[in-house]
Amino acid sequence: MCGIIGYIGKKAAAPIILEGLRRLEYRGYDSAGLAVLGDSVLEVRKKLGKIDEGLAPLVKTSPVTGTLGIGHTRWATHGVPCDENSHPHLDASGRIAVVHNGVIENYDLLKQRLAKAGHKFKSTTDTEVLAHLIGENYAKRGGSGKEALVTSVMDALREVIGTYGLAVICADCPDLMVGARRGSPLIIGIGKDEHYVTSDANAIVAHTKKVVYLNDYDVATITAGSFEVSNLGADTANVQISNLEFSQEDAARGKHAHFMLKEIYEQPQTILNALRGRLDFEGATAKFGGLNMSMAELRSIDRIVIAASGTSWHAALVGEYLIEELAQLPVEVEFAHEFCYRNAPLEKNTVLLVLSQSGETADTLAALREAKRRGHRALAIVNVVGSTIARESDGGIYMHAGPEIGVASTKAFVSTLTVLTLLAVHLGRMRMLSANRAREIMKALEALPKQVEKILAQNETIKKLAQKYHKAEDFFFLGRGYTFPVALEGALKLKEISYIHAEGYSAAEMKHGPIALIDADTPTVFVVPQDSMYDKTMANLAMIRARKGPVIAVATAGDKAIAKVADDVIYLPPLLEPVSPILATIPLQLFAYHIAVARGCDVDKPRNLAKSVTVQ
Ligand code: AGP
Repeated sequence: MCGIIGYIGKKAAAPIILEGLRRLEYRGYDSAGLAVLGDSVLEVRKKLGKIDEGLAPLVKTSPVTGTLGIGHTRWATHGVPCDENSHPHLDASGRIAVVHNGVIENYDLLKQRLAKAGHKFKSTTDTEVLAHLIGENYAKRGGSGKEALVTSVMDALREVIGTYGLAVICADCPDLMVGARRGSPLIIGIGKDEHYVTSDANAIVAHTKKVVYLNDYDVATITAGSFEVSNLGADTANVQISNLEFSQEDAARGKHAHFMLKEIYEQPQTILNALRGRLDFEGATAKFGGLNMSMAELRSIDRIVIAASGTSWHAALVGEYLIEELAQLPVEVEFAHEFCYRNAPLEKNTVLLVLSQSGETADTLAALREAKRRGHRALAIVNVVGSTIARESDGGIYMHAGPEIGVASTKAFVSTLTVLTLLAVHLGRMRMLSANRAREIMKALEALPKQVEKILAQNETIKKLAQKYHKAEDFFFLGRGYTFPVALEGALKLKEISYIHAEGYSAAEMKHGPIALIDADTPTVFVVPQDSMYDKTMANLAMIRARKGPVIAVATAGDKAIAKVADDVIYLPPLLEPVSPILATIPLQLFAYHIAVARGCDVDKPRNLAKSVTVQ
């Protein structure tokens, strides 16, 4: 997704912006640019490609000076990736620069009106239309001064249909930066005699941990020494100063070759962070501080709809198995984007639970807003503190997994599963779940970090296995019951970082058609721990073998039969079924990672992908 950073203060803006854009690279982008106000002239530099191959060399050969500037990494929505479509975009006068995340849905109509008024456009983007709209308003107001600029931005945003997180600077206003948001995150960073705006706190955590998360329709007027926030929709803006929970080091890659590998290896600690302060062995239950629901309200829930996207949707499927088994509470899993529009009937005591690492996924945010619009309580399990979903939910649980930089989600998935297991115990213990069974599961959760360490210790074995299979062009990942969602997740990991076509499927469902695709060149990864589905899954495995399909099994240590029917085996420690998805995922993450490395893929920034998809 696109990234924004702006600076106003006493320091040179360009180096701060470039460094901030580099810290946003993980979000995925195809071009980058910046605008800095020099001697009352806006200097714009923008280039297709990676920052250190395009923009940085350009700024080096053609330096810009000034202490006010804005920068952007673009993930193309309107207009192909090219220099002209990169941000910042200027208005007709060339004195106003805009960087923007989001989608202006009515840009075409606005563009036609502006073109009729004589405006000429250099790009095919919606953002340039917004810049010209602001410029037209500014010109109508006499074209000078802070008040005119802020009001011109507000007037333009009132005409816009769509989403935006944006920053605006103007050659006439050397001591002013304007920020605004609707549906795409924007944060003010508070420094000493300097301020920042950004779409992602990773870009500024090196400079300040004091931040303000803007809300929808907020417009911020920012100078070096102060900032004001007004709201287009309300009388006053709700300004709360927060402190970032993570450090620059947390967001750094350290000794690992890729962020994804670092985050895979962080998972023992991730699980500990998710469990911290939430295990109540005396009461044989889990405890949370932020659900904002009484015991009576929690008991009165008669159905939970879990809405999410991507990896978080796979976690939702595990959540369905967990909550239905442990709390005997009906659960339905929905793709967030489907839930918003299919107008599913919801009973009075249905609660929506959304899962999101970033807390900014537009599809998931839309699902949350739809449930609230219909009068239902909306809870959220989120990683990024202060994110939009976290702030708009009626209550929820933070993962505390720390920044997840790799585009392919790993530790957030494991953290979500850990939290969902705790939630299922919490809900179960208000219903029929026995204290003994609850304690058994909680002990299994406590044992997980050490068991994950044992799997991580097999990294070299898994790497060799990945090198054996890295040339395959098609894969199946199969599982049943609790490990069916794990199979889906393993397939997604492989496809999104190695670009190999991989299908996650129910092991039982294969015989109803897809087994036609099995041949000697199509390896199948079978997730087949010794759980309640073991015998049936082994029978499904035999069907694949009978058709000469190579089989890689993820099985339980001590299983004597598996090595006779699989070409290769990765062993898991013996495990309790409800926590098996957490353990079974780890080998699949490493398998996908090493295959992608063997294929020379950009593991942390896979083509076409964004870390947080803030468009619908
Ligand atoms: C996962 O590896 C992908 N990057 C993607 O599917 C992601 O899980 C999805 O976009 C949801 O993101 P969220 O958890 O931040 O809402």
